[in-house]
Amino acid sequence: MQDVVQWLKENGNLKIIDEPLDVELEIPHVAYVEVKMDDSRSILFTNPINKAKDISYDMPVLMNIFANKALTEKIFGKHPDLVAEGIEELLKLKPPKGIKAKLAMIPKLFSLKNVFPKRLKFKGECQEVIIPKAEVDLDKLPILKTWEEDGGPFITMGQVYTQSLDGQMQNLGMYRLQQYDKNRLGMHWQIHKDASHFFDQYQRAGKKMPVTVAIGGDPLYIWCGQAPMPHGMFEMLLYGFVRNKNAQLVKSITNDIYIPRDVDIVIEGFVDPELMEIEGPFGDHTGYYTLKEPFPVMEVETITMKKNPVFAATVVGKPPLEDKYMGWATERVFLPMLKPMAPDLIDYNMPENGVFHNLIMAKMKTLYKGHAMQFMHAFWGVGQMSFVKHALFVGEDAPELEESEALTTHILSRLSPERVFITKGIVDHLDHSSEEQFVGGKLGVDATGDEVEEGVEELLSDEVLYEKLHKLDRHIVALKQYFTHTKNPVCILQVEKTEPMSILMQKLEPFYKHIKVLIIIDKANNDIGDPYMLIWRVTNNIDASRDVLLKPFIMLDATNKGDLDGFQREWPGDTFCTKSVLDDLQEKGLIDIDTNFIKKFGLLAF
Ligand SMILES: Cc1cc2nc3c(=O)[nH]c(=O)nc-3n(C[C@H](O)[C@H](O)[C@H](O)COP(=O)(O)O)c2cc1C
Repeated sequence: MQDVVQWLKENGNLKIIDEPLDVELEIPHVAYVEVKMDDSRSILFTNPINKAKDISYDMPVLMNIFANKALTEKIFGKHPDLVAEGIEELLKLKPPKGIKAKLAMIPKLFSLKNVFPKRLKFKGECQEVIIPKAEVDLDKLPILKTWEEDGGPFITMGQVYTQSLDGQMQNLGMYRLQQYDKNRLGMHWQIHKDASHFFDQYQRAGKKMPVTVAIGGDPLYIWCGQAPMPHGMFEMLLYGFVRNKNAQLVKSITNDIYIPRDVDIVIEGFVDPELMEIEGPFGDHTGYYTLKEPFPVMEVETITMKKNPVFAATVVGKPPLEDKYMGWATERVFLPMLKPMAPDLIDYNMPENGVFHNLIMAKMKTLYKGHAMQFMHAFWGVGQMSFVKHALFVGEDAPELEESEALTTHILSRLSPERVFITKGIVDHLDHSSEEQFVGGKLGVDATGDEVEEGVEELLSDEVLYEKLHKLDRHIVALKQYFTHTKNPVCILQVEKTEPMSILMQKLEPFYKHIKVLIIIDKANNDIGDPYMLIWRVTNNIDASRDVLLKPFIMLDATNKGDLDGFQREWPGDTFCTKSVLDDLQEKGLIDIDTNFIKKFGLLAF
């Protein structure tokens, strides 16, 4: 990664912070604030320390490697759309007819030889230093604690390499790893992920599972780790395809797992399938804490590294963060892979403020009634797409999916309760809104048809409508209507919740003449004037099978749930920065933010 640091200096306007900063909260807070800026940059922290443990680390921490779209594109070496084009070509490959077509195909086939990873017989640069088991001490690595309520320090950009019990399948997944002590890490592979499936095999066989975690090296390894490749396909194939260069792998020292030769740090070990340990809490990319839950544990056998390693890390929390840019590349690259199951799909967009899987907007060519529903069900049925909670589908006449104002206008002009449908399915391991973990509501909007005829019967101003509703229920404390120029203005109601919202919804039914779409949010920690964060909150908090009413108009309850609602699970809290840390960093001139910024991105509770 020293090469990567040099490359970022030359290509990425790398920011270097030499001031000694704590791996607990300080470094993560600086990176968190930076990546929310319009012109965000990667940051190298050259002097990480840990005040509580009295440690000065001898390696720097590199954060926000995927700091913006331009840098992400440079890391790929080309626009992700071009990678997608290459994949699409490959998927459409047909036997060539005639000598000319055959000759034209040769370079294409020739380049495919670079896709397959190469297993080298010698040691890699990542094995220049070998630390034997007796000397293993994870405290020597600058592992970050991002949030005050985190259960401990976590490796946040670990490439987790695993293989199936029979050794036939290999996998690279990016899963966070909690450091428990000097030689044990928690393996947060969620239940639907490939490493978890491998773990099941080892558990059934009663055998210890080898795991090797790599940190650093080519940033594309990191991106490949989070790419939702189909089960059984090694992510290093995708690496070879993008780079047009085989991944060069070397064998781990203490197990049979192969890892890229040029990563910075390698942690090898075994997971005993009999032992689970409580993992978390951890402030996650949903912007909420994920709660404590048992996960498998790896006991470290050895740590190897380059002579001058760099420790790569990321921070997750409320959007926008580095995963916005990684997610953007993923969305572009995977478009052609969705087309075999949804051939009339034109494009899709999973915005980071919908936490990716909470919201998909898709554009398609509709050929028959129910076509959009068919695609939604296809998505809800396959791979990681099945985690999607809310799907909005538009036809080919819709504006570009990134033109959010125009697109929302288009959708709202085509919305009616009859075009909304609700079903149930699998939800992301991290979803906190469903009544039971892993299974919850799905909401689909088929906006591929014509504009609806009927708009709101009598549109009232915010002031007049608020007055009426506040009179009805004094717990309604604010109201704002959006998109009043469309057939379906969206009315946001902010409440101080003292009863289940189903009761308020009932009371609101007589207002059908004035309201077409109503969304209820809590007063606390929501800014009614900030649509970016409202989308984040609403899509996170809703379970469509419980929180949506379609008659007499569309109503959504996006408030936090709890005892009041008979909600049985624990409802997690938001990720908030630590005020004293922000103040201190501001005083030192290491961040430069004002109260508007703090409120806009929900950095502190309000
Ligand atoms: C920064 C970041 C952190 C992530 N942390 C986890 C995690 O802790 N557990 C998990 O299962 N997935 C996590 N993911 C998502 C996985 O990396 C992603 O679903 C990947 O496709 C999993 O690979 P697999 O299908 O090979 O298991 C994370 C993604 C990113 C970008």
